Amino acid sequence: MVFSGRPSGPPGRLFTAAGAGPQKAVFRGRPERATLPAMTTSPKSWSPVHGEPYRPVPYRPARIPAAESLARAAELRERMAERRTVRRFAPDPVPEQVVRDAIACAATAPSGAHQQPWTFVLVKDPEVRQRIRAAAEAEERLSYDGRLGEEWLTALRPLGTDEVKPHLTDAPHLIVVFQQRYWLGPDGARRKHYYVDESVGIAVGMLLSALHLSGLAALVHTPSPMGFLREELGRPVNEKAFAVIPVGYPAADCEVPDLVRKTLAQVLVEH
Ligand SMILES: Cc1cc2nc3c(=O)[nH]c(=O)nc-3n(C[C@H](O)[C@H](O)[C@H](O)COP(=O)(O)O)c2cc1C
Repeated sequence: MVFSGRPSGPPGRLFTAAGAGPQKAVFRGRPERATLPAMTTSPKSWSPVHGEPYRPVPYRPARIPAAESLARAAELRERMAERRTVRRFAPDPVPEQVVRDAIACAATAPSGAHQQPWTFVLVKDPEVRQRIRAAAEAEERLSYDGRLGEEWLTALRPLGTDEVKPHLTDAPHLIVVFQQRYWLGPDGARRKHYYVDESVGIAVGMLLSALHLSGLAALVHTPSPMGFLREELGRPVNEKAFAVIPVGYPAADCEVPDLVRKTLAQVLVEH
């Protein structure tokens, strides 16, 4: 699929990515530092835009013809329908840059008050991954042994999951996503973050889409409770683990549950 939005508008706002050719538009969300008036608060006191006045910049991405929109949407719909959660990964290496680019895509997600309340930890140390697996499997064992309750276990039955989580050590890459429940300054000051669950959920959705469209498979794993991850990965107290996402290619003998998705007619209501 070729996305052929052309840059327009004043230079410095929308510009052509170096080496990407004239067809790729990149939106740089903020003007150059030098063009900004003086900050009203310390830039370190919040997210980079906290307390700054509204400073509009033109946003005029090139429109594409409706026929091309229709073709892109139809193709995307088909490709996204092919995404499946994978729990068994091939040992084949995956270029780390693909994962880094997918994380960069996720980090373009919209967020409440543009607070970008996410951290993506790419866990590379095999010993750390081994410890994460041991801790997660210990929690999962308790869960599957009854902590989840009959209703939850019944809901999980069609998925064929259990407490054994080989992907935590065996998938070529492992991303742990944290949500920043509040902003924590270097001096210990705190400020509220808004719509953290929604923002991080959207970012993870974009991460999964980027990984899938880049030809990779992933799993959203939520070993419950996930408190051990903050300590294991040395994250600050304002961060809470949101999901563990192993990434790679499906194993040669990978199988997935025979799930049926709701149809568009079942999920779309038109008033
Ligand atoms: C928030 C969330 C939490 C999930 N937690 C787990 C999990 O802990 N373990 C697991 O094997 N799958 C987990 N999944 C994956 C779902 O089981 C999977 O997305 C669902 O069965 C649909 O399958 P599909 O992704 O192939 O369409 C989770 C998915 C989401 C969105």
